[in-house]
Amino acid sequence: MDSVRTAELLAGLGQNRLAAYALTLNAADARELLRDVASIDSELLVQLQSALRCRSTVASDQLEPLPQVRRGEDAAKDAAARLLGERLLAEGKVAAFVVAGGQGSRLGASGPKGQFPVGAISGASLFQVFAEKLLHCGIKAGRAIPWCVMTSPENDAETQAFFREHAHFGLNPANIFFFQQGTLPALDDDGQLLLRTATSLFRSPDGHGGSLRALTSSGAFQELRKRGVEHIFYFQVDNPLVDMCDPVLLGWHLSEHSEFSSKVVPKRNAEEKVGVLARINGAAGVIEYSDLPAALRDSRDESGQLRFRAGNIAVHVLDCGFVERIASGSLQLPWHLARKEIACFDPTTGPMTRVGTKFELFIFDALPLAQGTFVMEVERSAEFSPVKNRSGADSVETCRRDSMELHAAWLERVGARIPRNPDGSLALSIEISPRTALGPEDLERYRDHVFPSGQDILL
Ligand code: UTP
Repeated sequence: MDSVRTAELLAGLGQNRLAAYALTLNAADARELLRDVASIDSELLVQLQSALRCRSTVASDQLEPLPQVRRGEDAAKDAAARLLGERLLAEGKVAAFVVAGGQGSRLGASGPKGQFPVGAISGASLFQVFAEKLLHCGIKAGRAIPWCVMTSPENDAETQAFFREHAHFGLNPANIFFFQQGTLPALDDDGQLLLRTATSLFRSPDGHGGSLRALTSSGAFQELRKRGVEHIFYFQVDNPLVDMCDPVLLGWHLSEHSEFSSKVVPKRNAEEKVGVLARINGAAGVIEYSDLPAALRDSRDESGQLRFRAGNIAVHVLDCGFVERIASGSLQLPWHLARKEIACFDPTTGPMTRVGTKFELFIFDALPLAQGTFVMEVERSAEFSPVKNRSGADSVETCRRDSMELHAAWLERVGARIPRNPDGSLALSIEISPRTALGPEDLERYRDHVFPSGQDILL
């Protein structure tokens, strides 16, 4: 009976191969599969199937650079923005949101990526760095800033345990909202669902674009709204240099009536593999590295800079009203498809790998859907050095080096003297805890201080 019900449900979804398989299952196995299949939204399945058939490309004549403000270009406007942003923080209208559901496969470390030690001397984890930045921002604002942490079904328990083991890094747990990101089924080339095991469907994480729906379906968003939050400061788990809840960006976001604001850094060179913010068919959006036609990728403006240089660093401010529109489904993000070998369970031959398509949503696809956008170019060295890879570019080694250089620059900005080698490189290790300083403005007590050589600096 259970196998018949399961088969009927699958047949109703157009899954005839799996329906025939369900009829071969015993009652207990059929019930287990039924529970899983029942959670598949038939409308969503149709959307995924049609995404399999249509792939869009962007033509060169649809692309233009996007207007942007460079931080520091107009000190008076930045100062006015800072005041506005500080007011938003003081009024409790801002929440921070980190997406930490990724698998971190390039880094290859076990456990959640947020546990990865990035502190050059202390070995502080990414989560600790973010938590302490938030703690300090909260002290400056005169009130705690709520923090949403999106995990995945795979790393949720371990992430929450890590926070507990570290007493939430000094934050009040009542202000931290953990929730898991969603998953999406994978399909074969005929639009048929794949199995992970004999009695469960194959699913994969729905990408950072799924975060807005996860934020609302978890109930965290509603709680933030009750507390008066109006803007979400979004960042990724791999960038410890993030300028947490930057009041200048928040202020610009508000004064420009933006629904979705972004920070960008100039690309290092035309070949850097990073998505670029651009005007696509008249609307703001991100063009992926592989989709940017070579002639545009290499083109330069009259000042010699790359025309398409606005590298996306995934630091955004989103308006809560906009988040509501996305999460309710009234605005749909496009699907990104990854066709690859998938380890799955075949109804006739058992465990095997076969080619299938995984689906993901990307947060930056919300840009063209926003009614107002704002883009601010910032210095890479001050705000962006992600830990993506085990070695080479964007690795823990480059991240620690960049953090040390930034912290040295903060001290040097207040006139402190740091031992350097003849080639200008740092002669010692240096780390400034976010509890001590979020920038040079918090380091006045080290004005003109001379740090001795041969002794690492941990402040
Ligand atoms: P990446 O694209 O760098 O992916 O994620 P990743 O999973 O961390 O690393 P690789 O590609 O497997 O090596 C960018 C940000 O988006 C989050 C990540 O945690 C990171 O903060 N993310 C990514 C999610 O939260 N969920 C996802 O499904 C994918």
